[in-house]
Amino acid sequence: VTAKPTVVVVGAGAGGDAVAWGLRKQGFQGSILLIGAESERPYNRPYLSKQLLRQEITTEKTFLRPAQEYERRNIQLLLNRRVVRAHGSDRQLELQSGGRIPWDVLVLATGSEPRWLPDAPRRANVFTLRSLHDGLALQTAVAGAGRVMVVGAGFIGMEVAASARQLGKEVLAVEVAPIPMGRALGEEMGQIYARLHRSRGVDLRTGVSVSRWIESDDRVRAVELSDGTREEVDLILIGIGVSPRVALAEDLGLSLGEGGVRVDEALRAAPDVFCIGDIAAHQHPVYGRPLRVEHWQVAQRQGTGVATSVAGQPEPYREIPWFWSDQYDVNLQYLGNSRDFDETITRGNTEAEKFSIFYRKDGVIQAVLSINDARTGRFSRDLISRRTVVDGRILADPDSDLKGLAASA
Ligand code: APR
Repeated sequence: VTAKPTVVVVGAGAGGDAVAWGLRKQGFQGSILLIGAESERPYNRPYLSKQLLRQEITTEKTFLRPAQEYERRNIQLLLNRRVVRAHGSDRQLELQSGGRIPWDVLVLATGSEPRWLPDAPRRANVFTLRSLHDGLALQTAVAGAGRVMVVGAGFIGMEVAASARQLGKEVLAVEVAPIPMGRALGEEMGQIYARLHRSRGVDLRTGVSVSRWIESDDRVRAVELSDGTREEVDLILIGIGVSPRVALAEDLGLSLGEGGVRVDEALRAAPDVFCIGDIAAHQHPVYGRPLRVEHWQVAQRQGTGVATSVAGQPEPYREIPWFWSDQYDVNLQYLGNSRDFDETITRGNTEAEKFSIFYRKDGVIQAVLSINDARTGRFSRDLISRRTVVDGRILADPDSDLKGLAASA
């Protein structure tokens, strides 16, 4: 790599944006190209299912930075450009429009594609939610609807359900699993979320799926569920999960795994090729195994991490993954990864919707999930990073001083 290399970032989401800005912050002197398939500059995706959907903020407020800032920092923002192929032998990207773009260092931050139900008709009132474009279309549709249906009670479905309830809409949620939010939060929390949504008026049906779509005039008017019931609805949001976009990684022959691209501790997939965000199966130095996390905040933090590695020397990315979800007045914070645990410890009162759950393995905290209790998560970060073994009775006691404990660990 030359003294002033060209860094090309594919994907102008939170992750890609953080790479470009991080590089300039680190004093990087080379060229930076940030390529995005969408027509808008990077924006705050978490707003789409919440504040933007409820029309509490304007579209302008969703953007991460004023448009002219990119030019001012000499970051070339190429929007409306889709990269269709990556050529490893001559280090070039091919655009759908035909042009080619050479790189010295490549960062793939391509994110995920929402999954579509194979038998769902593509109709004007059937939506997925991923892009700002999707978000604005859904905003208009929900505003004009009486009864909203969400298919899939994961992050997207449940956040949209909550926002729609807050807007005074009737909401029907259909989830194939026995509980909502199960993929990310597990059985126990799934029960808690089921209660939470039902108590706020969501008609949540679990263990069922859509078996028939009843249409007229380019709209779905009703659905039939697998338990035989028929439901009239004004619009349908499909939120059944996402597929990471790994096609460019495949072009480059990068190693795939965990549903994404395998990257080392420094988020590197090959010499001068990095991956971040949804697509990165990151060999995490604290956990000692690959973690792939589909959350905005993780993509952004990893982007900053890669910028440090590219501007200097590749170094392990050590941050503990963190994400949140806001539904009604309930704030969820989740720190760490609990795929591997042998014990849970609850701190606080689950009935009162203010508590945290520690997930431990051999006494070491793997993750902390907090409901309306962000402090506990915040003070646990260092305990997780340093793999500190803490007496379970201390963790369980809501009055114990975790802050002091973390400071002295
Ligand atoms: N019918 C009903 N529900 C289904 C079906 C189906 N055919 N297929 C899957 N589901 C359910 C799953 O059981 C799961 O509960 O859809 C839910 C999908 O939830 P998530 O995996 O959380 O995905 P989603 O809500 O679409 O969120 C997409 O956005 O910010 C994020 O991190 C989040 O990566 C996630 C992404």
